[in-house]
Order: sequence, then structure tokens, then C-alpha cells
Amino acid sequence: MAYILKLKKISKSYGGVRALSDLTVSFQKGTITALVGPNGSGKTTIANILSGLAVFEKGEIEKDGVSRRFIDPADAPDMGIARTFQNIRIFEQMSVMDNILVILTRRTVWEALFMRHGEAEERESRAILAEVGLMGKKNDLAGSLSYGQRKLLEIGRVLAFDRAPSFKRMDVAIFDEVFAGLFPEMIKKIAHIIQALRDEGVAVIMIEHNMDLVREIADRCIVLDSGALLAEGTPDRVLSEKKVLEAYLGV
Ligand SMILES: Nc1ncnc2c1ncn2[C@@H]1O[C@H](COP(=O)(O)OP(=O)(O)OP(=O)(O)O)[C@@H](O)[C@H]1O
Ligand SMILES: [Mg+2]
Repeated sequence: MAYILKLKKISKSYGGVRALSDLTVSFQKGTITALVGPNGSGKTTIANILSGLAVFEKGEIEKDGVSRRFIDPADAPDMGIARTFQNIRIFEQMSVMDNILVILTRRTVWEALFMRHGEAEERESRAILAEVGLMGKKNDLAGSLSYGQRKLLEIGRVLAFDRAPSFKRMDVAIFDEVFAGLFPEMIKKIAHIIQALRDEGVAVIMIEHNMDLVREIADRCIVLDSGALLAEGTPDRVLSEKKVLEAYLGV
């Protein structure tokens, strides 16, 4: 199996709290891997490490055959890694469209305020907003969006990374609980977007608590418990394992 991304024996603590403990997991191209586990089991910590927001004490990250002891936040996009945030992070004082354009044109927020973008970038950002169902909001301040709409904008920003010509082609996309709080039509739309990325060859990491969605969309499932690997395999098999049910339901 061709793994594009490997976490090798990663340990990460916050003060006295062990978030990840000697964890080894791998992710493949063209595959949706669901990352599941109880609250506090270390899922978001993995996303933070892969996007350079958390420094790990032990272990290595191997991407494209290169091993790293740390990832700088500025390096993550050039490593082809994009993500959404569980606690949404958009530029509140910018319009919805500018939130997309700032990535497509690869500008700092400061530059985006003063530099014009081209016709092609404008067209691409409209296409992305239409895909995530936010065209009607394109001129609104991002800060005025509802919780669900903010999530859609974050997903749009991942698509912008995917399509921005000046970044390395995105080949890892991390979605941290993007479905929570979305209405059914939107869940379907986002599921299709995620599947389309998979079909393009992206390694998708989907952090998710909704097991019906995991069964429906994911090709593989990794279960964490207290920062360690509990089970790994196809969703149907893994989610019926006794130890997984026990960890989740506490039975
Ligand atoms: N910035 C931080 N400072 C201190 N502790 C943290 C920090 N981030 C995470 N932790 C701790 O690390 C552990 C793993 O947290 P993490 O956010 O990775 O869990 P999670 O699996 O994403 O949980 P959830 O399903 O609730 O989102 C938890 O015990 C959490 O309290
Ligand atoms: Mg989390």
C-alpha cells in the first residue's frame, strides 16, 4: 500500500496531559480515512501537529519520503497539507469572498486588502463559493456568518488551497468535525466534495463523531483511545469490534 503520510511513534503532552502516546499511523492517497475516538482522545492534536500548530516531543512525521522532527506552520501548505479547524478560524473582518481570494492569490491579509486580484481568481473563488453553497453571502463579512456557514467557508478555504496555482498540489486534506451542525442537504454536498477530493487522489483525514457518516463515506477507519491506537481497518469491521464499542460507549 502506498502511504503518503506516516506518523511514527509520536508522543505529545500538554503539561501533565498525554495527548498522544507513541502513536504510529499512516494515511494513503485517494483514501478517506476516518479518525474517530472519544472526546480528548487526540484527534485534533494530530491535525495540529500536521499543520505545525503543535510541537511533538518524540517521533517523526514522514511525508513524501522526507522525515521531519517538526513542522513549521508556514511549511504546511507547501507540504501539500490543508485543514479545517474544529474551532473555526476565518478572517472575521474580511468578506466571505476575500477569505477565499486571500488563499487563491497566496497573499497575506495585509496584501489582500490593497492588491487587486485577477479575473481568473475571481472566477475560481465564485466557483468555490457556489460549491459550498455560499454564493449568496459572498459580499458579507465573514464575521456575520452563522456557525454552519462558517464551517462551509472553512471547507471552501481547503478547496482554495487545492486550486491555488502557487501552492504545492494539496495531497492531504484534514476535516475536523466539519459535519457537526450542518443541515442534511449541506451534509450531502460536503460529503460529495470530500469524495471528489478522494477521487482526485487526495489523502483525506476525516475526524468525525457521526458513525453513520463514517460508514457511508470512509474507506478506512482509525480509532484512538487516550492518544493511542485502539483499532484500524474498514469502518464496518472496526466499528463492530468489542473494544471499540467499549471505548465509545463505556460498556
Ligand atoms: N492546547 C492545549 N492545552 C492543554 N491541553 C490540551 C490542549 N489541546 C489538547 N489538550 C488535551 O489533549 C488531549 C487531546 O485533545 P484533542 O483536542 O486532541 O482531543 P480530540 O480527540 O480532538 O477530542 P474532541 O473529540 O473532544 O474534539 C485532551 O486531554 C485535551 O484536553
Ligand atoms: Mg477535536
